[in-house]
Amino acid sequence: MSTEKKRKILIFDTTLRDGEQCPGASMRLREKIEIAKQLARLKVDVIEAGFPVASPDDFRSVRTVAEEIKGPVICDLSRCTTKDIERCAEAVAPAGKPRIHTFLATSKIHREFKLKKDKAEIVKMAVSGVTLARKLCADVEFSAEDASRTEPEFLAEVVRAVIDAGALTVNIPDTVGYGVPTQFGDLISYLLENTPNIGQVVLNVHCHNDLGLAVANSLEAVRRGAGGVECTINGLGERAGNCALEELVMALRTRHDVYNVETGIDARELFKTSRLVSRLTGMVVQRNKAIVGANSFAHEAGIHQDGILKERTTYEIMRPEDVGIEGSELVLGKHSGRHAVRERLGRMGFKLTDEELDRAYQRFVDLADKKKVIYDDDILAIARDEMDDASGVYEMDYLHVATGTATVPTATLRLRKSGKIIQDAACGDGPVDAALKSIDRITGMQGRLMEYAIQAVTVGQDAMGEVSIRVAFGDDTVNARAASTDIVKASAMAYLNCVNRVLVLRDPGRKKGR
Ligand code: KIV
Ligand code: ZN
Repeated sequence: MSTEKKRKILIFDTTLRDGEQCPGASMRLREKIEIAKQLARLKVDVIEAGFPVASPDDFRSVRTVAEEIKGPVICDLSRCTTKDIERCAEAVAPAGKPRIHTFLATSKIHREFKLKKDKAEIVKMAVSGVTLARKLCADVEFSAEDASRTEPEFLAEVVRAVIDAGALTVNIPDTVGYGVPTQFGDLISYLLENTPNIGQVVLNVHCHNDLGLAVANSLEAVRRGAGGVECTINGLGERAGNCALEELVMALRTRHDVYNVETGIDARELFKTSRLVSRLTGMVVQRNKAIVGANSFAHEAGIHQDGILKERTTYEIMRPEDVGIEGSELVLGKHSGRHAVRERLGRMGFKLTDEELDRAYQRFVDLADKKKVIYDDDILAIARDEMDDASGVYEMDYLHVATGTATVPTATLRLRKSGKIIQDAACGDGPVDAALKSIDRITGMQGRLMEYAIQAVTVGQDAMGEVSIRVAFGDDTVNARAASTDIVKASAMAYLNCVNRVLVLRDPGRKKGR
């Protein structure tokens, strides 16, 4: 057996920053903190918590993550400007291990059309940004935006200059997902061979998935000598997303014969993290997604099942338990108490207030009356609904729908607001449309449905349906989800959550009953 020490690849998670740039995936403070805590349990090396200059809310979330999360380096992003860098330093200051991450575009296209600066000016701006950041924080990272489309000689010049200015990590992003493995790998090899001071820093890569190659490009970069990979849970991120953390980590681990490296990730937390991020962002994980999709360990073909029963490795290259998918998902039954529900949620990374737990437990009891077995996913769906802090402006009191092949679909709805009951009814081209229109009539809101998806939470005909929707109210677009064994009710609840959310967004002081 080889005793050779493996090279450690640092895992930099940017779910809370680049991941949040994914259309429809915006998160609120409490959700970001839940995710950051889970990322710490997953043992990522760095958490990129946000872009503080973007808004006071972004600043507050970075600051809260910096205050509350122990273990990983906490970093935040800034353009190469004094204002951005100072704001970053302020936000990240409370962290045990703070880092400022500053970036500047280096490619010809960005220099000429976006920045209108020549090469010398770019080098000067990058150096002064890193110099200022180093005065404010001991750990500084520099990213050369659009590095994969930058002339390699110029990129090496910038990298050399920012290292001299004090950067400790240099990141090579494939910002537009243009790279392909051989070429992107060649760029990494070129930088390692042609930047004299490169040995003083960790060389990161940050690949986008526009051509579906983010993981492949990152793996090739690691093989060529990159020391860190920037990635997101479930591959969330701008446009087609970023390198998926779970895929990268399991590829490095499963094919250690090729890569011969290790990460500090606790892979048994991967599935739980993926589920948490999916629930809190409203971004559904496709069933056939590698590593964490519902089908990733399901063997359908008889010949495969037969092989698995005889010898698991015939068709399985990883074990479900390696990524934290436990053998049996069945958790609780009709007679389980409030404490058991709280305990189970805690193990899945959810911490509810007493009031939320009371409501979640009541729904659990109601569900246990309707469904024979209750799975983790059922409990998660309920917890997610109850944690929705906008859910209380309007509350649903009663919904009745009439529909059928020879009936005009009609919904009668009663909502409660400030203890007052308001009732109305509407017709629609189907029961969901009728229910949503009756919400519009009562609340006076006019939502435009941008996306609507429904997914069974678990297997079985008695499964809850979880509705995820995205609704535009004028210039504000929000998303929400809700689950119920009655899919019309789930649709109406999800839509009502969107109404509540936009009301709170427009008037943050607005609380339940006001
Ligand atoms: O894709 C990109 O270039 C980025 C940088 C800001 C790191 O996200
Ligand atoms: Zn990016």
